Amino acid sequence: MKIVVIGGSGLIGSKLVSKLRQHGQEVIAASPDSGVNTITGEGLAEVLTDTQVVVDVANSPSFEDSAVMEFFETSGRHLLAAEAVAGVKHHVALSVVGTDRLQESGYFRAKQAQENLIKKSGISYSIVHSTQFFEFLRSIAAAGAVGEEIHISPAPFQPIASEDVAAAMAEVTMGKPINGIIEIAGPERISLAELVQRYLNKMGDTRKVVADRHARYYGAELNEHTLVPENGARIGSIDFETWFSNQKIVINH
Ligand SMILES: NC(=O)c1ccc[n+]([C@@H]2O[C@H](COP(=O)([O-])OP(=O)(O)OC[C@H]3O[C@@H](n4cnc5c(N)ncnc54)[C@H](OP(=O)(O)O)[C@@H]3O)[C@@H](O)[C@H]2O)c1
Repeated sequence: MKIVVIGGSGLIGSKLVSKLRQHGQEVIAASPDSGVNTITGEGLAEVLTDTQVVVDVANSPSFEDSAVMEFFETSGRHLLAAEAVAGVKHHVALSVVGTDRLQESGYFRAKQAQENLIKKSGISYSIVHSTQFFEFLRSIAAAGAVGEEIHISPAPFQPIASEDVAAAMAEVTMGKPINGIIEIAGPERISLAELVQRYLNKMGDTRKVVADRHARYYGAELNEHTLVPENGARIGSIDFETWFSNQKIVINH
């Protein structure tokens, strides 16, 4: 089975490509560097020839509201049109748990637009909704910086290791299309503010996290349910302590 991974050089894409190859699949890691660009359309028709499954794990280089919408709409349109011509049988995409509850945020409006294009494309699909990756904690902390403090919502949060995300994506990619959404999350539920503080402490960053329930998460206010999956989500095995201990990080002590 020929599988093309769009965004195959990224955090999730590169891990997913290795896992699929370990399962003996024929996999092409596609990205602008390898001559496949979903924004310009360059290389798409060629790479999709004789392809059965396409996995889209690309991400926008900019998270600014209009840039990210432009990225996911244009990329989605070009990719799905090229898949229809090539006769692709299964489109797999990675999106975010709570996307529909985060529509105050420009990033999540763009992810919703991406999902809507997939649902109306006529191509069989599986959308995986993941919670936030542990690897994303650093960006979450940076986005909450207010002077010397970090203002973060205490809303419940259930982050996952990128390794667990890639494993789940590999299974979905090798399975049948579900024409719906499945959710994946990490093994522990914790307050977002508390985990960011634990992360900063471990990094030797002395800044204090202020738990502020009005602090916005990429433009959206959070409640008890926004970021956490429903019952029935697939749960990864790697917890925060295990993930952190496996990172090659320079600590600022
Ligand atoms: N961060 C989170 O916590 C989280 C949680 C749930 C879901 N997600 C979703 O997970 C997905 C993957 O995220 P990630 O962190 O693995 O992304 P990433 O590491 O930033 O990688 C993005 C990939 O997209 C490629 N790309 C960029 N522009 C492209 C274009 N015009 N055409 C083709 N490929 C292009 C990049 O190629 P180059 O290397 O050549 O630039 C790279 O391979 C995203 O859709 C995101 O919404 C993220």
